[in-house]
Amino acid sequence: MKVAVVGATGMVGEVMLRILLERNFPIDELLLVASERSIGRNIQVGGREHMVIGMEQAVKQRPDLAIFSAGGDTSLKWAPEFAAVGTTVIDNSSAWRMDPSKKLVVPEINARVLTKADKIIANPNCSTIQLVMVLAPLHHKYKMKRVVISTYQSVSGTGVKAVKQLENEMAGIEGEMAYPYPINRNALPHCDVFMENGYTKEEMKLAREPQKILDDRTFSITATAVRIPTSGGHSESVNIEFENDFDLNELRKLLHNSPGVVVQDNPDTNTYPMPVFAHEKDEVFVGRIRRDETQPNSLNLWIVADNLRKGAATNAVQIAEYLLAERLI
Ligand code: A2P
Repeated sequence: MKVAVVGATGMVGEVMLRILLERNFPIDELLLVASERSIGRNIQVGGREHMVIGMEQAVKQRPDLAIFSAGGDTSLKWAPEFAAVGTTVIDNSSAWRMDPSKKLVVPEINARVLTKADKIIANPNCSTIQLVMVLAPLHHKYKMKRVVISTYQSVSGTGVKAVKQLENEMAGIEGEMAYPYPINRNALPHCDVFMENGYTKEEMKLAREPQKILDDRTFSITATAVRIPTSGGHSESVNIEFENDFDLNELRKLLHNSPGVVVQDNPDTNTYPMPVFAHEKDEVFVGRIRRDETQPNSLNLWIVADNLRKGAATNAVQIAEYLLAERLI
């Protein structure tokens, strides 16, 4: 396999390279691709030096697979160029997610929709991935009507510049700002840009992407997305109203038996998911599972995952692994 990692110098790109190595993804030739600013830079991957190349050069090399984490504009412009030379693109940006002709995939849930004809495949938003990993098994069993979610999102989701802003603020150093306000000792109810309806783009991704992944528009999701000064993972407070009633023990067992989901839930021992536990892990952690006592068939829970791993790089590599295993690339 000739594999290109596009955005190799970025926050997700770095984790992507690590995960490809960790999971022994079969790579014969690795292309590290970034913007013109980085061309010629050397990066160590698995003890070997690789020189960063630009987009045009990477397309000319016709890789079998290109994993993109270089922002929406780069994907919109370049993913079709790679697809045109026969490369299968897995794209981490929001550029193609809601395009009806592109598949939006969380392998544990809907990998079966993928075919050989899919040349640009979208990786969902980080907050969406961890949410649907928990919602999917519950929806199949109890049928969701409405979900209300509030997120507590890590600065690493914004990229290198935001992590630097937090580090600078903690050290008392003036520097470049990724956010319109300080993030240290703060909570910004503002992830991604504002839309005309008053919601942020991140909130609308959370509302729409799960319906596409679950191929079901009969339930609705409303969200408030908040950036907080953590770096290990995103957390989500989730309230779900189901059509059908549930038994809490049975529901816990269902989540316990769901691949990629770990239940951490014991108030007696202060056991619940937190970013410091989820950091560097590939699983999605769920806890604080309790009945919403204000209305029938309703549930509250708390979901945490490492947004750079399952929320981005791990999910993309799992898609690539599925394509390989099913001989779709
Ligand atoms: P570069 O380092 O050369 O700017 P992050 O979100 O962590 O800031 O990372 C963004 C990634 O996307 C980086 O690897 C960055 O490369 C890459 N990137 C940004 N703009 C482009 C572009 N126009 N073409 C290719 N890669 C880009």
